[in-house]
Amino acid sequence: MASDLSDSEHWAGEYLSPNLPLLSDTQIKLARMLVQEGQIHLFENWPKPGVRDADKLRFFEQVAKLDISYPGGLTAYLQNARKLLADSKAGKNPFSGYVPSVPDGVKLVHGDEKFMQYEEAGVKEAQYSAFVLVAGGLGERLGYSGIKVALPSETTTENSFLQLYIKTILALQDASSGGQNQAVKPIPLVIMTSDDTHKKTDQLLKENNNFGMLPDQVVLLKQEKVACLSDNNGSLALDPSNSFLIQTKPHGHGDVHSVLYNSGLLTRWQHESRKWVLFFQDTNALLFKGVPASLGVSVLKDLDVNSLAVNRKAKEAIGGIARLTHENGSEMVINVEYNQLDPLLRSTGHPEGDINIETGFSPFPGNINQLIFKLSSYIKELAKTHGAIVEFVNPKYKDASKTSFKSSTRLECMMQDYPRTLPTSAKVGFTVLETWLAYAPVKNNPEDAAKVPRGNPPHSATSGEMAVYKANSLILRKAGVLIEGPKIESYNDQEVEVWPRIVWSPKWGLTFSDVKKKVKGHCQISQKSTLVIDGEDVTIDGLALDGALFIRAVACAKVNIQSLHVSNDAWKIIPVDSADNSVPEKIRIRGFKLELHGQQLLLFHQPRQCNITNVSM
Ligand code: UTP
Repeated sequence: MASDLSDSEHWAGEYLSPNLPLLSDTQIKLARMLVQEGQIHLFENWPKPGVRDADKLRFFEQVAKLDISYPGGLTAYLQNARKLLADSKAGKNPFSGYVPSVPDGVKLVHGDEKFMQYEEAGVKEAQYSAFVLVAGGLGERLGYSGIKVALPSETTTENSFLQLYIKTILALQDASSGGQNQAVKPIPLVIMTSDDTHKKTDQLLKENNNFGMLPDQVVLLKQEKVACLSDNNGSLALDPSNSFLIQTKPHGHGDVHSVLYNSGLLTRWQHESRKWVLFFQDTNALLFKGVPASLGVSVLKDLDVNSLAVNRKAKEAIGGIARLTHENGSEMVINVEYNQLDPLLRSTGHPEGDINIETGFSPFPGNINQLIFKLSSYIKELAKTHGAIVEFVNPKYKDASKTSFKSSTRLECMMQDYPRTLPTSAKVGFTVLETWLAYAPVKNNPEDAAKVPRGNPPHSATSGEMAVYKANSLILRKAGVLIEGPKIESYNDQEVEVWPRIVWSPKWGLTFSDVKKKVKGHCQISQKSTLVIDGEDVTIDGLALDGALFIRAVACAKVNIQSLHVSNDAWKIIPVDSADNSVPEKIRIRGFKLELHGQQLLLFHQPRQCNITNVSM
């Protein structure tokens, strides 16, 4: 039955009312809801019927989509928005009523006995896991024109972040299922995309045959955006370039929980006997170096939630992990954003706020947003919440009166807020890893990175790449290789340590014990050197390297290198100007390029045993 529009002028006003006959009953219901929610301004410029009718229908298609993709619909979104905007205007700390304290967690030192035990336990258990990459972010701070996961994680091999992640998961899969003689159970990878990243992520995977994963092993799930708000009353914002479109922005990586819940994948994973879900972010080339040991911590401590963390300087701009105890006695271990932690400490009997202790770091470790959840308790929790996560709003006000915004805002949510709704009985812990080993995200563009105070990490493409070489150099050092110390250089106005450019494929050195087994004898590598090892079964027993050496071996080739001396002009690091448009963007944002002056290639194409003994080249 068609809607009765006899009272429409009364509720729909001068502009919308004459257009109502164009709409279906469902669309009229949505129109009524918008007006009731104080959104009549959306129709202020609507012309009379017959003019731009297609745009009007498209407007309601978008409203229907926004309504269906938010739990409770647009009404719930607007109600939540008004409440959060009022709290924000009043300067309310979302954790008021809670007292922060330092929680218990596991602190790992790379390479020691405990670290290797956890790594072993983690590798064994990896076959029962599933990985989830959140990659729907706009990446505004980096400002790269493509998707971030397509960027080279370093430019010696030019392997992209996505390639590195997938190759590492495949290496874990093989190692966990006991090598190539055993039946290998594929470890699933979900990538959460958004309209901003979906097509390019899909294309990157297709062009590269999923980097070796099976077609149904990697699944893309797209998150939807949410409506933008232009004032404290929760007025929906129209797109500045199209008055028939509501402006939308990403809702944050917290969407990953509802997206996973709605996908039905969690129950499928449970039927496949999976036990763990590991969440990670888009541009941290070091992230998998701490994964096996951290998964081992989850297993051996039986944690429902394990957040990976690094030491953090007081007030450093990353969230701190804290235990929060409420006046009513309830407790949670949770990430508290750095700008909330300091005032919370000050208002709860710590007048100095967040300060460094004798270790030189804040006692509250820094959350790096790699999370490991126990699947069984995750499924139970999502059955209650359907994946909804506590939201927040972060408007940029024009002035201290906090009455108008510089630009439209929207509600957001973060995946690390998941423990906020967990019962107190849940086992929520964390694992602290050394920063050099586990955390070097690429988030900032060259200009902003150059402004980061000296001594603080610039989190740029420059620092992200140099961190890979440093981590690999330090790992080899711990395995007994003499590695010449770094030079301090400046690229894109950022001072960085330049270590030998050492890179290996994940299958060669997934864990520290793998590396230790494969490097023996007297080995030394000079600072100017490049060393790339790409092959599973390559052992080095004695090496003097002063130049560039690439060792590449096909699967099943067993390569044993003994007493090898390599000396050549190596690959040189040449500064480039970040503003020089003749240089590809992916290079420009690093401020340097690598130039071949001399190298030695050792290529092993046959799947058989090869020995190289006592050779100088
Ligand atoms: P970031 O905090 O780096 O945000 O996200 P961003 O949106 O990518 O970059 P900026 O803030 O605009 O500079 C951390 C991780 O969360 C993902 C990102 O892709 C990244 O892996 N993310 C972020 C989503 O998946 N969805 C979102 O809505 C936001």
